[in-house]
Amino acid sequence: MAKAKTVYFCSECGGESVRWMGKCPHCGAWNTLVEEKVAEEPKSVLPGRVHVRGAKARPIGEIVASKQKRLLTGIEELDTVLGGGLIPGSSVLLGGEPGIGKSTLLLQAAARMTGYGRVLYISGEESPEQIRLRAERLDCLKDELYLLATTDIGEGLEQARQLQPALIIIDSVQAVFSPDLDPAPGSVTQVRAVAAAAIGLARELDAAVMLIGHVTKEGMLAGPRVLEHMVDAVLYFEGDRFNAFRLLRAVKNRFGSTNEVGVFEMSGAGLVSLASPSAYFLSERSAARPGSAVCSVIQGSRPMLLEIQALVTPSTLGNPRRLAAGFDFNRLLLIIAVLERRLGLPLGNKDVYLNIAGGLRLADPAADLAAATAIVSSLKDIPIEDGIVLCGELGLLGELRGVPQTERRLKEAAAFGFKAAICPPEKGAKEEAVRRLTAADLPAALKILGL
Ligand code: TYD
Ligand code: MG
Repeated sequence: MAKAKTVYFCSECGGESVRWMGKCPHCGAWNTLVEEKVAEEPKSVLPGRVHVRGAKARPIGEIVASKQKRLLTGIEELDTVLGGGLIPGSSVLLGGEPGIGKSTLLLQAAARMTGYGRVLYISGEESPEQIRLRAERLDCLKDELYLLATTDIGEGLEQARQLQPALIIIDSVQAVFSPDLDPAPGSVTQVRAVAAAAIGLARELDAAVMLIGHVTKEGMLAGPRVLEHMVDAVLYFEGDRFNAFRLLRAVKNRFGSTNEVGVFEMSGAGLVSLASPSAYFLSERSAARPGSAVCSVIQGSRPMLLEIQALVTPSTLGNPRRLAAGFDFNRLLLIIAVLERRLGLPLGNKDVYLNIAGGLRLADPAADLAAATAIVSSLKDIPIEDGIVLCGELGLLGELRGVPQTERRLKEAAAFGFKAAICPPEKGAKEEAVRRLTAADLPAALKILGL
């Protein structure tokens, strides 16, 4: 047994330090160093690591790149986000908060991928009985789907070598560990070792590997970010646990773009791909009511129509309350400041609540105009006329700024029966599917709406 020494790893970036410090010298994060014991001379504890010997550099032109074979997971939205399916020998990390549906998504994918051969699902979190019960409900009982409940990565890899599966799933990198290493499961050393072993095995067996990883409250992958550098693709599964809507986003993809998003609805029968998110978001919207506005936002590369709701009530507090659900809080403060200063609206003694219906977390500034008009509509208790969609980023002077891909946003609005759109003026704007009402600033937009 090699002598153990103590080192300190940063739980944010995975950087190594010889002594404890308040601030990580690698990434500058505070209070993130954790003590871990590692063997003095690293033993060969990574059974799956491949050593390519005698490799020689070649001119790029001489390298033959055959078009890579892709394995379709059979879940359309997942395939889109992956860039057209999984590549054998590659590794994908799926991150998300606990309970969001990571195990469900990969179990559904596992069952469908049995068409390519065996699939091995290694779970360090649930028993085979639990997974079987879930598989029954999800109609995922397939002969070629193998389950292994273990927390020992070594056992998992051994089974994989025997079964020669086309896909290996590890649920999760925090729960599975290598008993040969001293540090606790989920520690930087362990997570790194598990991932390295799995990635090595994927190359060895020419199988695709999908790793599940939990994220912390801050939305980071628990454990080191180094994991993100090791794998070929990193996907994040987002959503509000109390809401059925789920968004799958790629933050890194060596084999495709990171521009695509997948949208799902969590139902009694597992995750269902949502071909038309707009229909889902607008399904519960009733006729025009004060405080409700519809905007056309772009998520990934697809346009979606969303309802933004605002409620403005007299405040009994010295400091009026501002609350945003699904909308950036600082943007809400900025919009309120513009409404107060540029339009002279009395919001200083009012509580303002803003909500994106349906559980989406919005980051598209094109929703500013809809948020601002929803607030004015609630304040004045006048509804926004039905059939009008709003698009535009709000500047500090109250001006409206153009947003990218207006044409596609308006096309989506037309498809859902909207008659008109209020947008900032745009040079060279073509004939649109809906009537385009241009407004250069917020007062002009509100005038069109009679607010
Ligand atoms: P799960 O996949 O276990 O989440 P994770 O692996 O990300 O922690 O799914 C958790 C939740 O999903 C669970 O609380 C119940 C819900 N769920 C459904 O609503 N319908 C279903 O068919 C399944 C399987 C789960
Ligand atoms: Mg799980």
